[in-house]
This record gives sequence, C-alpha cells and structure tokens, in this order.
Amino acid sequence: MQPFLLISPLNATNQGLREVYQSDYGILYQGDCLNFLRVIPDSSVDIVFADPPFNLGKNYDKGVNDQRKSDEYLAWSRQWISECIRVLKPGGSLFIFNLPKWCIEYGAYLNQQEMNFRHWIACRMPKAFPRGQRMSPAHYGLLYYTKGEPAVFNKVYTPIQVCRHCGGEIRDYGGHRKKLNPKGINLMDVWDAPEDVWEDTASSDTNEILWTLSDEMWTDIPPVRHRQHKKRGANELAPIMLERIIAMGSNPGQVALDPFGGSGTTFYAAQKLQRYWLGTEIGDTEPAVKRLTKLAKGQVEDWESARGKKKVQTKPKESTQLELFSCTDCKPDTCATQPFQ
Ligand SMILES: C[S@@+](CC[C@H](N)C(=O)[O-])C[C@H]1O[C@@H](n2cnc3c(N)ncnc32)[C@H](O)[C@@H]1O
Repeated sequence: MQPFLLISPLNATNQGLREVYQSDYGILYQGDCLNFLRVIPDSSVDIVFADPPFNLGKNYDKGVNDQRKSDEYLAWSRQWISECIRVLKPGGSLFIFNLPKWCIEYGAYLNQQEMNFRHWIACRMPKAFPRGQRMSPAHYGLLYYTKGEPAVFNKVYTPIQVCRHCGGEIRDYGGHRKKLNPKGINLMDVWDAPEDVWEDTASSDTNEILWTLSDEMWTDIPPVRHRQHKKRGANELAPIMLERIIAMGSNPGQVALDPFGGSGTTFYAAQKLQRYWLGTEIGDTEPAVKRLTKLAKGQVEDWESARGKKKVQTKPKESTQLELFSCTDCKPDTCATQPFQ
C-alpha cells in the first residue's frame, strides 16, 4: 500500500501538516508528531521506529521543548506511544530508542498496553560522558515490542569479529565455532561499536581516504560524529542502525513510520530497502529532504565512514582467519586475541 493512500490531504492540512517531500516510496511532513499520527488510520503500518528527544535540554529547532518536567515528558510520551500502537497492524513491530531512564518507563507502559516485549537492545555509545555522580553511560536502550505475536521477524547476521592486527578470531563461541552459519553469527541484543575496532577520526584526519566498506552490514553502529557525514547539527543515527531494524522487523513493500524524522535516517533506510515510509519532523526538514533527493538520484551513503576509519584489516590472512586464536604474526602486546590464550 503506497503511504499517500493512507493519508487524506485535507486531514493533513487540517492538522497543520505541511508536505515537504514525496517519492514513490514515501511522504514526509513538517509538523507535530501527534497531529501527524492522528491522520494515520488504525492498524495500517507494519513497523514504527521512534527516536524522540531525550529530554536532555538539547537545542532543537523552534517548537521543541527538550527540558520538561519528568511527568510532563512521560505524559507526552504516553500520548505518542499510544498513537503508535494504534496505527500498527496486528503483529507490527515497534522500536523506541531512548536513555535507559526513559526506556524503563516506556517498557512499563507498553507492557500495560498488551504489547509483546521482544527485546531491550543495548546500543553501545562509545565516549558518552558521565553526568554528575553517575557512572559513564555505555549504552542507550532500543526497545523492541510487537503488537501481539510478530508478523515478521527476519534473522540478521553479524560478521565474526577478528583481531585488527592479525585477522585471528577474537571469540571462541563456546567451542561451537564450526557449527556457526557461514554468513556470520545471529544478531545479539547488544549492538556494539567497540573502541578497539573503530579509530575515532572525528576531530580531524586529513588522511581519510582509506574508508573500509564492509560487505556485511551488521558490524556495529558508529555514532554519526564526523562533519563530513553529519546531515545537521542535532542528533542523528547511523543508517546501519535503521537498516538493521527495518530489515529485521519488516519485508519489502511494507510500510514503516517514524514520528521524529530528524535528518531522515529512517526514511533513507526504508527507501533503500524498498519499504514504503511515512514521517514527520517538527523542525528543519531540509537535511532529510536533501538526503532523500540524493538517494532518489542513486547516491547511497558510506555509513561505514560515519565514525572514522575501520581498523580491521581489509583482507585478513586466510590461514589465521579460519583458525581460532592463531595469530602467529601478531605482536603479543597488541593482539586482541591474547587474553583468550
Ligand atoms: C533524536 S532526534 C531524531 C533523529 C533521527 N532519528 C535521525 O536519525 O536523524 C528527535 C527529533 O524529533 C523532533 N521532534 C521533537 N518534538 C517533536 C514533535 N512534537 N513532533 C515531531 N518531531 C519532533 C526534533 O526536532 C528532532 O529532530
């Protein structure tokens, strides 16, 4: 079902929504998420991804209050979460990204709504800073619920991690290595971007010609920090994360929805993976529109370079690649496999 057929243009206008982009696959509005969700019919969408402002006092565009009292923030969240549930088809997937502090509240609410808890996915956030008397936060939560039993759950695989120095495999998989699927390992609920795999070139690196493009997209989720890849000043997620979510929770030809469009990462990923999409953004929609226009012209982004150069060798030596912990040429003090020997 093409998404424009789901929305009456008159209703959209009456809700103060302004259409800013339309392609064969999707439609983007500028306007408030609740007004947008109100014009979507019940049980019409296959997958929803929501990445709301985290209430951290960030400086978004006009119309966004990112510093509300906790109960106000939660009351507002319950409103849009309820609407997201309403528009989901039975069996549809709901993913919500936020700080653990809010995810725990969202989870409690979703459990009361007869949503089916699937996972709390931990997305590792390297270099997050501790605030006050706190530990250093190392992950954000990605809640994964379905409306009843999942209608779609596609298994996704991540490549087997290898030492960047010698190409030897880092983990022993409890002795089950030989039985692993050659495509890689099943995606786990910790989505990691370990420091030792990525070299942060966010500040300045004039030598960034060696971007390593990976054949498999399930390696990790680098934060989008580098100005070369940032679509806008405020938050945005790496396309790899949305591609993974959409690939897991929907099939081509189904409809994805994002009520907090931002730089358009969800729409970009959906369009690339041939899902229809619908979304809104209250603030500046220009970065999303630019990005979707480029994609329509065939320009696919190098997400892998969002954080920096990948340190893994482009071509690990074959002899060490298949053998556990045999990193014969590796310097003992730098080999990632050393602790396991
Ligand atoms: C965390 S960002 C989302 C980033 C997005 N996932 C991306 O990858 O670019 C949250 C976005 O929600 C938008 N926003 C905040 N309140 C909104 C509302 N009431 N309706 C629609 N969008 C809103 C903000 O302007 C901001 O762009």
